[in-house]
Amino acid sequence: MAMDIFKITGPVRLDGTVTIGNSKNAALPIMAATILAGGKNTLLGLPNLSDISIMCKLLEDMGCKTSADNGTISIDSAAIDKPFGDYETVRKMRAGICVLGPLLARCGKAEVSMPGGCAIGYRPVDIHLRGLQELGAKIELKNGYIVAHANGGLKGANIFLGGPFGSSVLATANIMSAAVLAKGKTIIESAACEPEVTDLANCLVKMGAKISGIGSPQLTIHGVKNLNPVEYAIIPDRIEAGTFMAAAVITKGKLKLKNCRLDHLMAVVDKLRSMNVAVDETQDGCEVSFNGHIQPTDITTLPYPGFPTDLQAQFMACLCLARGNSVITEKIFPDRFMHVAELSRMAANLRKEGPHVIISGVEKLIAAPVMASDLRASAALVVAALAAHGETIINRVYHIDRGYEKIEQKFNAVGAKIERQSI
Ligand code: UD1
Repeated sequence: MAMDIFKITGPVRLDGTVTIGNSKNAALPIMAATILAGGKNTLLGLPNLSDISIMCKLLEDMGCKTSADNGTISIDSAAIDKPFGDYETVRKMRAGICVLGPLLARCGKAEVSMPGGCAIGYRPVDIHLRGLQELGAKIELKNGYIVAHANGGLKGANIFLGGPFGSSVLATANIMSAAVLAKGKTIIESAACEPEVTDLANCLVKMGAKISGIGSPQLTIHGVKNLNPVEYAIIPDRIEAGTFMAAAVITKGKLKLKNCRLDHLMAVVDKLRSMNVAVDETQDGCEVSFNGHIQPTDITTLPYPGFPTDLQAQFMACLCLARGNSVITEKIFPDRFMHVAELSRMAANLRKEGPHVIISGVEKLIAAPVMASDLRASAALVVAALAAHGETIINRVYHIDRGYEKIEQKFNAVGAKIERQSI
Protein backbone atom coordinates (compact mmCIF):
# COMPACT_ATOMS: atom_id res chain seq x y z
CA MET A 1 0.00 0.00 0.00
CA ALA A 2 1.26 3.46 -0.85
CA MET A 3 2.19 5.12 2.41
CA ASP A 4 1.15 8.70 1.77
CA ILE A 5 1.95 11.50 4.17
CA PHE A 6 0.56 15.02 4.49
CA LYS A 7 2.78 18.04 4.93
CA ILE A 8 0.62 20.80 6.34
CA THR A 9 1.89 24.34 6.77
CA GLY A 10 0.14 26.61 9.24
CA PRO A 11 -1.38 28.68 10.49
CA VAL A 12 -3.85 29.52 7.72
CA ARG A 13 -7.25 31.18 7.61
CA LEU A 14 -9.86 29.26 5.62
CA ASP A 15 -12.27 31.20 3.43
CA GLY A 16 -14.47 29.91 0.63
CA THR A 17 -17.01 27.31 -0.39
CA VAL A 18 -16.77 23.57 0.19
CA THR A 19 -19.11 20.96 -1.27
CA ILE A 20 -19.65 18.17 1.23
CA GLY A 21 -19.80 14.62 -0.11
CA ASN A 22 -22.45 12.05 0.66
CA SER A 23 -22.35 9.79 3.66
CA LYS A 24 -20.15 6.69 3.60
CA ASN A 25 -21.79 5.43 6.78
CA ALA A 26 -25.24 5.72 5.23
CA ALA A 27 -24.05 4.15 1.98
CA LEU A 28 -22.49 0.98 3.43
CA PRO A 29 -25.60 -0.57 5.09
CA ILE A 30 -27.71 0.51 2.10
CA MET A 31 -25.30 -1.25 -0.26
CA ALA A 32 -25.61 -4.36 1.94
CA ALA A 33 -29.41 -4.07 1.88
CA THR A 34 -29.46 -4.39 -1.93
CA ILE A 35 -28.92 -8.11 -1.21
CA LEU A 36 -32.61 -8.14 -0.16
CA ALA A 37 -33.94 -6.86 -3.47
CA GLY A 38 -32.89 -9.34 -6.14
CA GLY A 39 -32.22 -7.32 -9.29
CA LYS A 40 -30.50 -4.18 -10.44
CA ASN A 41 -30.27 -1.49 -7.77
CA THR A 42 -28.82 1.94 -8.50
CA LEU A 43 -27.33 4.06 -5.71
CA LEU A 44 -26.65 7.68 -6.49
CA GLY A 45 -24.09 10.12 -5.13
CA LEU A 46 -21.75 7.72 -3.37
CA PRO A 47 -18.36 9.01 -2.26
CA ASN A 48 -15.33 7.53 -3.98
CA LEU A 49 -13.72 5.89 -0.93
CA SER A 50 -11.92 2.65 -0.24
CA ASP A 51 -14.65 1.41 2.15
CA ILE A 52 -17.18 1.67 -0.68
CA SER A 53 -14.93 -0.42 -2.97
CA ILE A 54 -14.44 -2.95 -0.18
CA MET A 55 -18.23 -3.30 0.17
CA CYS A 56 -18.50 -3.76 -3.63
CA LYS A 57 -15.89 -6.52 -3.42
CA LEU A 58 -17.78 -8.23 -0.58
CA LEU A 59 -21.00 -8.16 -2.64
CA GLU A 60 -19.22 -9.39 -5.79
CA ASP A 61 -17.71 -12.30 -3.88
CA MET A 62 -21.21 -13.53 -3.05
CA GLY A 63 -22.46 -13.28 -6.64
CA CYS A 64 -23.61 -9.67 -7.11
CA LYS A 65 -22.51 -7.70 -10.16
CA THR A 66 -21.42 -4.17 -9.36
CA SER A 67 -20.26 -1.25 -11.45
CA ALA A 68 -19.28 2.25 -10.45
CA ASP A 69 -19.49 5.36 -12.57
CA ASN A 70 -18.77 8.77 -11.15
CA GLY A 71 -20.59 8.32 -7.86
CA THR A 72 -23.34 6.09 -9.20
CA ILE A 73 -23.03 2.46 -8.19
CA SER A 74 -25.21 -0.23 -9.61
CA ILE A 75 -25.54 -3.48 -7.74
CA ASP A 76 -27.25 -6.38 -9.45
CA SER A 77 -28.21 -8.82 -6.72
CA ALA A 78 -30.30 -11.17 -8.88
CA ALA A 79 -28.07 -14.13 -8.02
CA ILE A 80 -26.54 -14.62 -4.58
CA ASP A 81 -24.79 -17.97 -4.84
CA LYS A 82 -22.39 -17.73 -1.92
CA PRO A 83 -23.73 -16.11 1.28
CA PHE A 84 -20.25 -15.58 2.64
CA GLY A 85 -18.21 -12.65 4.02
CA ASP A 86 -14.50 -13.37 3.90
CA TYR A 87 -12.13 -12.51 6.78
CA GLU A 88 -9.69 -10.81 4.40
CA THR A 89 -12.41 -8.34 3.41
CA VAL A 90 -14.36 -7.91 6.66
CA ARG A 91 -11.24 -7.37 8.77
CA LYS A 92 -10.52 -4.23 6.73
CA MET A 93 -13.90 -2.71 7.42
CA ARG A 94 -16.19 -3.29 10.35
CA ALA A 95 -19.26 -2.33 8.32
CA GLY A 96 -18.79 -5.66 6.50
CA ILE A 97 -20.91 -7.09 9.34
CA CYS A 98 -23.89 -5.31 7.68
CA VAL A 99 -24.25 -8.12 5.12
CA LEU A 100 -25.15 -10.63 7.85
CA GLY A 101 -28.83 -9.67 8.34
CA PRO A 102 -29.62 -9.24 4.61
CA LEU A 103 -27.91 -12.55 3.68
CA LEU A 104 -29.77 -14.44 6.36
CA ALA A 105 -33.11 -12.95 5.28
CA ARG A 106 -32.52 -13.63 1.57
CA CYS A 107 -30.73 -17.01 1.67
CA GLY A 108 -31.74 -18.49 5.05
CA LYS A 109 -28.09 -18.84 5.93
CA ALA A 110 -24.93 -16.74 6.14
CA GLU A 111 -21.32 -17.07 7.12
CA VAL A 112 -19.54 -13.81 7.86
CA SER A 113 -16.18 -13.23 9.48
CA MET A 114 -16.13 -11.60 12.91
CA PRO A 115 -14.88 -8.06 12.26
CA GLY A 116 -11.28 -7.32 13.19
CA GLY A 117 -9.91 -5.21 16.02
CA CYS A 118 -9.97 -1.49 15.78
CA ALA A 119 -7.90 1.38 17.06
CA ILE A 120 -10.84 3.03 18.81
CA GLY A 121 -11.20 0.16 21.27
CA TYR A 122 -12.90 -3.20 21.56
CA ARG A 123 -16.08 -3.28 19.53
CA PRO A 124 -18.17 -6.39 20.15
CA VAL A 125 -21.03 -7.63 17.91
CA ASP A 126 -23.16 -9.27 20.62
CA ILE A 127 -26.13 -6.96 20.00
CA HIS A 128 -26.17 -7.88 16.30
CA LEU A 129 -26.18 -11.59 17.15
CA ARG A 130 -28.76 -11.31 19.91
CA GLY A 131 -31.15 -9.47 17.59
CA LEU A 132 -30.84 -12.06 14.84
CA GLN A 133 -31.32 -14.87 17.35
CA GLU A 134 -34.55 -13.25 18.50
CA LEU A 135 -35.71 -13.33 14.88
CA GLY A 136 -35.19 -17.11 15.02
CA ALA A 137 -31.65 -17.48 13.66
CA LYS A 138 -29.36 -20.20 15.01
CA ILE A 139 -25.89 -18.78 15.42
CA GLU A 140 -22.54 -20.43 16.06
CA LEU A 141 -19.02 -19.05 16.07
CA LYS A 142 -16.58 -21.22 14.09
CA ASN A 143 -12.95 -20.40 13.29
CA GLY A 144 -13.55 -16.67 13.62
CA TYR A 145 -16.72 -16.81 11.52
CA ILE A 146 -20.33 -16.14 12.49
CA VAL A 147 -22.30 -19.05 11.05
CA ALA A 148 -26.03 -18.30 10.99
CA HIS A 149 -28.99 -20.39 9.86
CA ALA A 150 -32.68 -19.62 9.69
CA ASN A 151 -34.26 -22.91 8.73
CA GLY A 152 -37.88 -22.21 7.92
CA GLY A 153 -37.17 -18.47 7.65
CA LEU A 154 -36.95 -15.60 10.11
CA LYS A 155 -39.93 -14.76 12.31
CA GLY A 156 -40.96 -11.35 13.62
CA ALA A 157 -40.34 -10.68 17.33
CA ASN A 158 -40.20 -7.95 19.95
CA ILE A 159 -36.55 -7.07 20.31
CA PHE A 160 -34.74 -4.77 22.72
CA LEU A 161 -31.53 -3.62 21.03
CA GLY A 162 -29.91 -1.49 23.74
CA GLY A 163 -26.39 -2.21 24.96
CA PRO A 164 -24.10 -0.90 27.70
CA PHE A 165 -23.46 2.28 25.67
CA GLY A 166 -26.97 2.82 24.39
CA SER A 167 -28.26 1.84 20.99
CA SER A 168 -26.08 0.40 18.23
CA VAL A 169 -26.12 1.94 14.77
CA LEU A 170 -25.03 -1.03 12.68
CA ALA A 171 -26.93 -3.57 14.82
CA THR A 172 -30.12 -1.59 14.20
CA ALA A 173 -29.28 -1.58 10.48
CA ASN A 174 -28.64 -5.32 10.49
CA ILE A 175 -31.77 -6.33 12.43
CA MET A 176 -34.06 -3.94 10.57
CA SER A 177 -32.73 -5.25 7.24
CA ALA A 178 -33.39 -8.83 8.32
CA ALA A 179 -36.84 -8.13 9.81
CA VAL A 180 -38.26 -6.59 6.63
CA LEU A 181 -38.43 -10.07 5.08
CA ALA A 182 -39.29 -11.96 8.31
CA LYS A 183 -42.73 -13.51 8.77
CA GLY A 184 -45.05 -11.29 10.82
CA LYS A 185 -44.44 -8.23 12.94
CA THR A 186 -41.18 -7.08 14.52
CA ILE A 187 -40.85 -4.29 17.06
CA ILE A 188 -37.36 -2.99 17.69
CA GLU A 189 -37.02 -1.07 20.97
CA SER A 190 -34.00 1.14 21.65
CA ALA A 191 -33.30 1.38 17.93
CA ALA A 192 -30.54 3.78 16.93
CA CYS A 193 -31.96 7.06 15.58
CA GLU A 194 -28.92 8.22 13.60
CA PRO A 195 -29.74 9.81 10.22
CA GLU A 196 -27.82 6.98 8.53
CA VAL A 197 -30.29 4.45 10.02
CA THR A 198 -33.18 6.63 8.86
CA ASP A 199 -31.67 6.74 5.38
CA LEU A 200 -31.49 2.94 5.29
CA ALA A 201 -35.10 2.69 6.50
CA ASN A 202 -36.23 5.11 3.78
CA CYS A 203 -34.40 3.05 1.17
CA LEU A 204 -35.97 -0.19 2.45
CA VAL A 205 -39.41 1.45 2.29
CA LYS A 206 -38.71 2.44 -1.31
CA MET A 207 -37.92 -1.25 -1.96
CA GLY A 208 -41.37 -2.09 -0.61
CA ALA A 209 -40.67 -2.74 3.09
CA LYS A 210 -43.29 -1.81 5.68
CA ILE A 211 -41.60 0.14 8.48
CA SER A 212 -43.12 2.71 10.81
CA GLY A 213 -41.56 4.82 13.55
CA ILE A 214 -38.63 5.69 11.26
CA GLY A 215 -36.22 8.04 13.04
CA SER A 216 -37.53 7.08 16.48
CA PRO A 217 -36.22 4.53 19.02
CA GLN A 218 -39.21 2.24 18.33
CA LEU A 219 -39.41 0.71 14.86
CA THR A 220 -42.38 -1.43 13.84
CA ILE A 221 -41.84 -3.66 10.85
CA HIS A 222 -44.40 -5.80 9.05
CA GLY A 223 -42.56 -8.46 7.08
CA VAL A 224 -43.21 -8.69 3.33
CA LYS A 225 -42.53 -11.62 0.95
CA ASN A 226 -40.06 -9.87 -1.28
CA LEU A 227 -38.58 -6.48 -2.10
CA ASN A 228 -37.98 -4.71 -5.39
CA PRO A 229 -34.73 -3.19 -6.62
CA VAL A 230 -34.52 0.59 -6.31
CA GLU A 231 -32.78 3.74 -7.38
CA TYR A 232 -31.82 5.69 -4.27
CA ALA A 233 -29.78 8.81 -3.43
CA ILE A 234 -27.69 8.84 -0.22
CA ILE A 235 -27.79 11.69 2.36
CA PRO A 236 -24.94 14.22 2.80
CA ASP A 237 -22.16 13.30 5.22
CA ARG A 238 -22.83 15.10 8.51
CA ILE A 239 -19.42 14.11 9.88
CA GLU A 240 -17.52 15.58 6.93
CA ALA A 241 -19.59 18.76 7.35
CA GLY A 242 -18.80 18.88 11.09
CA THR A 243 -15.10 18.40 10.34
CA PHE A 244 -15.10 21.46 8.06
CA MET A 245 -17.03 23.40 10.73
CA ALA A 246 -14.27 22.60 13.23
CA ALA A 247 -11.68 23.70 10.66
CA ALA A 248 -13.48 27.02 10.14
CA VAL A 249 -13.43 27.64 13.90
CA ILE A 250 -9.80 26.72 14.55
CA THR A 251 -8.59 28.89 11.63
CA LYS A 252 -10.94 31.78 12.53
CA GLY A 253 -12.22 31.54 9.01
CA LYS A 254 -15.42 31.59 7.05
CA LEU A 255 -16.70 28.54 5.17
CA LYS A 256 -19.82 28.11 3.13
CA LEU A 257 -20.80 24.44 3.17
CA LYS A 258 -22.93 23.13 0.32
CA ASN A 259 -24.76 19.80 0.42
CA CYS A 260 -24.94 19.96 4.21
CA ARG A 261 -28.04 19.12 6.29
CA LEU A 262 -28.09 21.32 9.37
CA ASP A 263 -31.08 19.37 10.71
CA HIS A 264 -28.68 16.41 11.10
CA LEU A 265 -26.21 18.55 13.06
CA MET A 266 -28.39 20.19 15.72
CA ALA A 267 -26.19 19.24 18.70
CA VAL A 268 -23.08 20.42 16.87
CA VAL A 269 -24.65 23.72 15.81
CA ASP A 270 -25.89 24.27 19.36
CA LYS A 271 -22.37 23.70 20.69
CA LEU A 272 -20.85 26.02 18.07
CA ARG A 273 -23.33 28.79 18.89
CA SER A 274 -22.52 28.46 22.59
CA MET A 275 -18.88 28.99 21.56
CA ASN A 276 -19.93 32.27 19.82
CA VAL A 277 -19.50 30.80 16.35
CA ALA A 278 -21.96 32.13 13.76
CA VAL A 279 -23.78 29.35 11.91
CA ASP A 280 -26.27 30.57 9.33
CA GLU A 281 -28.49 28.32 7.29
CA THR A 282 -28.33 28.73 3.50
CA GLN A 283 -30.39 27.16 0.75
CA ASP A 284 -28.50 23.85 0.60
CA GLY A 285 -26.24 24.11 3.61
CA CYS A 286 -24.80 26.75 5.86
CA GLU A 287 -22.17 29.35 6.43
CA VAL A 288 -19.88 29.08 9.44
CA SER A 289 -17.77 32.05 10.41
CA PHE A 290 -15.72 32.82 13.44
CA ASN A 291 -13.49 35.57 14.64
CA GLY A 292 -12.20 36.15 18.11
CA HIS A 293 -11.22 33.84 20.91
CA ILE A 294 -12.46 30.25 21.08
CA GLN A 295 -14.72 29.86 24.13
CA PRO A 296 -14.05 26.81 26.30
CA THR A 297 -16.97 24.42 26.58
CA ASP A 298 -17.84 20.91 27.75
CA ILE A 299 -18.83 18.24 25.23
CA THR A 300 -20.35 14.83 25.96
CA THR A 301 -20.78 12.41 23.08
CA LEU A 302 -24.13 10.63 22.97
CA PRO A 303 -26.26 8.64 20.56
CA TYR A 304 -28.13 10.79 18.03
CA PRO A 305 -29.49 13.46 18.38
CA GLY A 306 -26.67 14.05 20.90
CA PHE A 307 -23.16 15.18 19.97
CA PRO A 308 -21.62 12.55 17.63
CA THR A 309 -18.61 10.54 18.78
CA ASP A 310 -17.31 10.80 15.20
CA LEU A 311 -16.73 14.55 15.76
CA GLN A 312 -15.26 14.32 19.25
CA ALA A 313 -11.62 14.37 18.11
CA GLN A 314 -12.03 17.27 15.68
CA PHE A 315 -13.70 19.43 18.36
CA MET A 316 -11.01 18.51 20.86
CA ALA A 317 -8.51 19.98 18.38
CA CYS A 318 -10.44 23.29 18.44
CA LEU A 319 -10.73 23.38 22.22
CA CYS A 320 -6.94 23.01 22.53
CA LEU A 321 -6.82 26.71 21.57
CA ALA A 322 -9.72 27.91 23.75
CA ARG A 323 -9.27 30.59 26.39
CA GLY A 324 -9.76 28.37 29.44
CA ASN A 325 -10.54 24.80 30.38
CA SER A 326 -12.89 22.37 28.66
CA VAL A 327 -13.93 18.79 29.40
CA ILE A 328 -14.76 16.18 26.78
CA THR A 329 -16.59 13.04 27.91
CA GLU A 330 -16.82 10.06 25.57
CA LYS A 331 -19.93 7.99 26.26
CA ILE A 332 -20.00 5.82 23.13
CA PHE A 333 -16.43 4.51 22.81
CA PRO A 334 -14.71 5.20 26.17
CA ASP A 335 -11.25 4.37 24.74
CA ARG A 336 -11.55 6.56 21.69
CA PHE A 337 -8.71 8.92 22.59
CA MET A 338 -5.85 7.95 20.28
CA HIS A 339 -5.57 11.60 19.22
CA VAL A 340 -4.76 12.80 22.75
CA ALA A 341 -1.11 11.74 22.59
CA GLU A 342 -0.67 13.13 19.09
CA LEU A 343 -2.29 16.50 19.89
CA SER A 344 0.00 16.69 22.93
CA ARG A 345 2.96 16.34 20.57
CA MET A 346 1.67 19.54 18.97
CA ALA A 347 1.90 21.34 22.35
CA ALA A 348 -1.72 20.90 23.43
CA ASN A 349 -2.31 20.66 27.17
CA LEU A 350 -4.47 17.58 27.72
CA ARG A 351 -5.11 15.25 30.61
CA LYS A 352 -7.04 12.01 30.22
CA GLU A 353 -9.00 10.69 33.20
CA GLY A 354 -10.94 7.56 32.23
CA PRO A 355 -13.55 8.52 29.62
CA HIS A 356 -12.85 12.24 30.20
CA VAL A 357 -10.22 14.55 28.76
CA ILE A 358 -9.51 17.84 30.46
CA ILE A 359 -8.28 20.41 27.99
CA SER A 360 -6.43 23.49 29.20
CA GLY A 361 -6.38 25.94 26.33
CA VAL A 362 -2.94 27.00 25.10
CA GLU A 363 -1.89 30.14 23.23
CA LYS A 364 -0.70 28.25 20.17
CA LEU A 365 -0.20 24.79 18.72
CA ILE A 366 3.22 23.94 17.31
CA ALA A 367 3.75 21.71 14.26
CA ALA A 368 5.22 18.23 14.83
CA PRO A 369 5.44 14.87 13.11
CA VAL A 370 2.34 12.90 14.13
CA MET A 371 0.73 9.57 13.36
CA ALA A 372 -2.79 9.03 12.06
CA SER A 373 -4.34 6.15 14.03
CA ASP A 374 -7.97 5.91 13.00
CA LEU A 375 -10.27 7.80 10.70
CA ARG A 376 -11.63 10.56 12.94
CA ALA A 377 -8.52 10.95 15.09
CA SER A 378 -6.61 11.62 11.87
CA ALA A 379 -9.12 14.22 10.76
CA ALA A 380 -8.52 15.97 14.10
CA LEU A 381 -4.79 16.09 13.36
CA VAL A 382 -5.50 17.80 10.03
CA VAL A 383 -7.76 20.32 11.79
CA ALA A 384 -5.08 21.01 14.43
CA ALA A 385 -2.32 21.28 11.80
CA LEU A 386 -4.22 24.03 9.95
CA ALA A 387 -3.76 26.23 13.02
CA ALA A 388 -0.39 24.95 14.22
CA HIS A 389 2.74 27.02 13.66
CA GLY A 390 5.15 25.37 11.24
CA GLU A 391 5.03 22.22 9.13
CA THR A 392 3.09 19.28 10.55
CA ILE A 393 3.77 15.91 9.01
CA ILE A 394 0.95 13.38 9.29
CA ASN A 395 1.91 9.78 8.68
CA ARG A 396 -0.45 6.97 7.65
CA VAL A 397 -2.84 9.18 5.73
CA TYR A 398 -4.69 6.11 4.45
CA HIS A 399 -6.76 6.27 7.64
CA ILE A 400 -8.09 9.68 6.57
CA ASP A 401 -8.64 8.53 2.99
CA ARG A 402 -11.03 5.83 4.26
CA GLY A 403 -13.62 8.48 5.14
CA TYR A 404 -12.81 11.72 3.36
CA GLU A 405 -12.69 12.02 -0.41
CA LYS A 406 -9.91 14.34 -1.69
CA ILE A 407 -9.67 16.03 1.69
CA GLU A 408 -6.47 17.94 0.87
CA GLN A 409 -7.90 19.26 -2.39
CA LYS A 410 -11.04 20.46 -0.62
CA PHE A 411 -9.01 22.19 2.11
CA ASN A 412 -6.48 23.68 -0.32
CA ALA A 413 -9.26 25.18 -2.41
CA VAL A 414 -10.26 27.32 0.60
CA GLY A 415 -6.79 28.40 1.68
CA ALA A 416 -5.01 25.47 3.34
CA LYS A 417 -1.47 24.42 2.49
CA ILE A 418 -1.55 20.63 2.44
CA GLU A 419 0.82 18.63 0.31
CA ARG A 420 0.40 14.89 -0.21
CA GLN A 421 3.58 12.90 -0.69
CA SER A 422 3.99 9.21 -1.40
CA ILE A 423 6.87 7.69 0.50
C1 UD1 B 1 -21.26 3.30 13.70
C2 UD1 B 1 -20.40 4.13 12.78
C3 UD1 B 1 -19.26 4.78 13.55
C4 UD1 B 1 -19.81 5.55 14.75
C5 UD1 B 1 -20.70 4.66 15.60
C6 UD1 B 1 -21.39 5.41 16.73
C7 UD1 B 1 -20.55 3.04 10.60
C8 UD1 B 1 -19.88 2.25 9.54
N1 UD1 B 1 -19.86 3.29 11.72
O1 UD1 B 1 -20.45 2.23 14.18
O2 UD1 B 1 -18.57 5.67 12.68
O3 UD1 B 1 -18.73 6.02 15.55
O4 UD1 B 1 -21.74 4.09 14.77
O5 UD1 B 1 -22.13 6.46 16.24
O6 UD1 B 1 -21.68 3.47 10.43
N2 UD1 B 1 -21.72 -2.24 20.97
C9 UD1 B 1 -21.81 -3.39 21.72
N3 UD1 B 1 -22.23 -4.54 21.12
C10 UD1 B 1 -22.57 -4.59 19.78
C11 UD1 B 1 -22.48 -3.39 19.02
C12 UD1 B 1 -22.05 -2.25 19.65
O7 UD1 B 1 -21.52 -3.38 22.92
O8 UD1 B 1 -22.96 -5.65 19.30
C13 UD1 B 1 -21.24 -1.00 21.61
C14 UD1 B 1 -20.00 -0.43 20.94
O9 UD1 B 1 -18.82 -1.04 21.41
C15 UD1 B 1 -20.10 1.04 21.30
C16 UD1 B 1 -21.61 1.30 21.25
O10 UD1 B 1 -22.22 0.00 21.39
O11 UD1 B 1 -19.65 1.25 22.62
C17 UD1 B 1 -22.10 1.96 19.98
O12 UD1 B 1 -21.54 1.31 18.87
P1 UD1 B 1 -22.33 1.18 17.50
O13 UD1 B 1 -23.43 2.17 17.41
O14 UD1 B 1 -22.69 -0.24 17.28
O15 UD1 B 1 -21.19 1.56 16.44
P2 UD1 B 1 -21.12 0.99 14.97
O16 UD1 B 1 -22.50 0.79 14.48
O17 UD1 B 1 -20.17 -0.13 14.90
